[in-house]
Amino acid sequence: MHSNSGKDMNLQLYCPNPKRYENQLLFRDMTALDWIDIIKRPGEQPFLIIEQGMLGLADANWPKVHPVYVDFQSGAVAHRRLYGGGAGQAVAKAVGLNKKKNLRILDATAGLGRDAFVMASLGAQVLMLERHRGVHLLLADGLYRLGFNGELGEIQQRLTLSYGSLSYGSLSYGSLSHESLSDAGQALEQFAPEVIYLDPMFPERVKSAKVKKEMAIFQELVGDDVDADALLAPALALAEFRVVVKRPKQAPHLAAQVPTTALIGKSSRFDIYSKKAIS
Ligand SMILES: C[S@@+](CC[C@H](N)C(=O)[O-])C[C@H]1O[C@@H](n2cnc3c(N)ncnc32)[C@H](O)[C@@H]1O
Repeated sequence: MHSNSGKDMNLQLYCPNPKRYENQLLFRDMTALDWIDIIKRPGEQPFLIIEQGMLGLADANWPKVHPVYVDFQSGAVAHRRLYGGGAGQAVAKAVGLNKKKNLRILDATAGLGRDAFVMASLGAQVLMLERHRGVHLLLADGLYRLGFNGELGEIQQRLTLSYGSLSYGSLSYGSLSHESLSDAGQALEQFAPEVIYLDPMFPERVKSAKVKKEMAIFQELVGDDVDADALLAPALALAEFRVVVKRPKQAPHLAAQVPTTALIGKSSRFDIYSKKAIS
């Protein structure tokens, strides 16, 4: 498997029904990006799809699998918000939300934003950083739709999204379209994260029989984060209180660095690198 930050290759976009009004709006935004190729029918690689006004990720090799959307409002994410155990669940305790509710957390590997949403729904202010352009677009679309949900709009206010990475040298940001995102670097410094959360893709995930097909499509797009070790040092330099790394239970420590302590969740382990007590 490869590491694919999505920087070097064009992404494909398929829009089966561009005439529907809400599809049209999204389609117009996407086609403004010069690294998107519009396709007439699904090809070999995973592709973005616009359906019912939502941006999804699909794969022609899995025609029966629903596209992967960033959906904060229903399905697994909603279930976790309502019944996931609140501030008592492992991820919340690991980042310290049981000690301070309105923590400023940098989620430096945002992915589909599920963990970020849990933390924001428990009161944290979360800055999500994602380096894959396609994943960043999926997140932007999910956040946009969340803004229309009156009940959850308050959570959306606590979530911010940036395109870039902590691990390329110091802080680095790319430009998604024509606008410069150098402001994003400033935004991060102003944000001054108290906690940094890392959940890089782990190769073994895809080998597990438990991995759902939709996660397999996601992994196909993103590849393995083979450079994940490089995230720990800049995260430790930037976080005020602690860095938390989510790993599969049996996985080795990130960058072979032994954490201060670890919390075992239902399916994951959270390695905690403490710098200072949360106050
Ligand atoms: C396993 S997913 C994260 C899942 C996420 N915690 C969630 O709940 O949906 C890992 C994500 O981190 C991103 N990523 C990996 N390394 C990164 C880096 N150095 N900078 C920014 N994003 C990174 C990958 O592109 C991928 O989307």
